[in-house]
Amino acid sequence: MREENHSVVSEFVLVGLTSSLEIQLVLFLVFSVFYVAGILGNLLIVLTVVSDSQLHSPMYFLLANLSFIDMWVSSSVVPKMISDVFKERKVISFQGCIAQMFFIHVVVGTEMVLLIIMALDRYVAICRPLHYLIIMNFQTCILLLVAAWIIGIIHSLIQLVFVVNLPFCDHNEMDSFYCDLPRFIKLACTDTYRLELMVSADSGFISLGTFFILIISYIFILITVWQHSSSGLSKALSTLSAHITVVVLFFGPCIFVYLWPFPMVPVDKFLGIFYVVITPFMNPAIYTFRNKEMKVAMRRRLIQILSFRELF
Ligand SMILES: *[C@@H]1O[C@H](CO)[C@@H](O)[C@H](O)[C@H]1NC(C)=O
Repeated sequence: MREENHSVVSEFVLVGLTSSLEIQLVLFLVFSVFYVAGILGNLLIVLTVVSDSQLHSPMYFLLANLSFIDMWVSSSVVPKMISDVFKERKVISFQGCIAQMFFIHVVVGTEMVLLIIMALDRYVAICRPLHYLIIMNFQTCILLLVAAWIIGIIHSLIQLVFVVNLPFCDHNEMDSFYCDLPRFIKLACTDTYRLELMVSADSGFISLGTFFILIISYIFILITVWQHSSSGLSKALSTLSAHITVVVLFFGPCIFVYLWPFPMVPVDKFLGIFYVVITPFMNPAIYTFRNKEMKVAMRRRLIQILSFRELF
């Protein structure tokens, strides 16, 4: 019986964010601008860090890696969403849906671990400055980054192996603008209570756990700075408040969506916008463009490019 039913759903219909044509037009413009600006900003950061030898230090490599992941986070959802805006029927194949969920969880999971690594890097730089280069050497950085990707992949695989074989009957309408794991599970025609708990445990744990680790490390950094010089505190506070804004914008919605998947509240489909559209756009602005060394490097690059073109 189940086997027969399983083949009934071969694609999902995405409801999107709204049915109003005017709002869709506005969303189309806003998301396109955010997406393109985010990709360009992040690309600029990666290219600057990789090509400028003065930026070859753990902090900048980590920032470049964050930009690299951010491009994938927004690309996993936004291009399809933008191209769907004016389609009467927004569909995604069963395999496409699985692939999208897998990909989103890999990159978002990896990004969360990477944010912890970046906080650790700042902690060592500020609290153990004399040992910084010994602790955060190139090998350690690579090792931590590989660990971040492995954790992201494992986190995503664990959830996906449990849901790929779910039976689907006739409900294939997903009230979201991308394939969203909690909603995917809700559509299955079987008792999904345990699966939902599993997703809450896995995704909820990784978002809530990372959130607390980050907040605690920021508090540690602030206390250390404060003990050494109260004048340094206001500078550290202004840097960290930007980080904390990102962390709240990124993790708040994740924690809400994944720790609370049972009564589907209508607002939670809009929360996805924060972590797939807004944070990948804001990260470069907050982490990098406020950084003086980075701005100098970019200007240097620009002058090089301009003077190179004058040769022709
Ligand atoms: C990520 O960091 C590593 C070293 O920490 C660096 O070699 C690599 O170029 C970085 N990747 C990107 C895309 O910036």
